[in-house]
Amino acid sequence: MSQGNVLFLLTGSIACYKACTVISRLVQAGVTVQTVATPAALRFVGTATLEGLSGRPVFTDLWAEGQALDHIELARRADLALVCPATANTLNQLAAGLAHDPVGTLFLAWELDKKPWWVSPAMNHRMWEHPATAASLARLREWGVQVIDPVEGPHACGESGSGRLPEPEAIAAKVLAALAAK
Ligand SMILES: Cc1cc2nc3c(=O)[nH]c(=O)nc-3n(C[C@H](O)[C@H](O)[C@H](O)COP(=O)(O)O)c2cc1C
Repeated sequence: MSQGNVLFLLTGSIACYKACTVISRLVQAGVTVQTVATPAALRFVGTATLEGLSGRPVFTDLWAEGQALDHIELARRADLALVCPATANTLNQLAAGLAHDPVGTLFLAWELDKKPWWVSPAMNHRMWEHPATAASLARLREWGVQVIDPVEGPHACGESGSGRLPEPEAIAAKVLAALAAK
């Protein structure tokens, strides 16, 4: 029996490789995972990897044949949504209520007062500290979005600071605990 349904949304950060481990841990624990990926996320990991890990096709294109209502249906079916990794661009997009892609439409179709929507940001520390990012996060928090705070450490760009995605096991454990508590 499934331990719950997670809508797992990947956006274009180098931390997509760590998100693959989160998906793997959730699936191993019996969770049904539906992945969604932006075009930028697919520059970092391929649909074959996401489909192989989750056992389901990846939702990437609002206009794909046979998937016309997925932007509503997937939001209806899931118990919890997790944007992991969440880019600065996507956080700003969500905070502005823009719905030009699957991630934005699913967010607007989500009943924030009924089901948890989480974001796990990952970015360079200057992007993380930028007032635009901080303002978007504050707005998302006001709406009930839960933020998995990034951790301090070295970035792929050679700089160091806050903005790193936490370790995959820690993220998976949080999701599993939330599903068990529902
Ligand atoms: C190599 C590389 C790594 C990147 N890593 C990040 C990152 O960790 N976090 C972030 O916010 N943006 C990062 N970006 C920039 C985003 O990919 C870019 O803003 C993109 O438009 C995000 O689109 P999306 O939010 O629709 O996925 C990176 C770009 C490149 C080329």
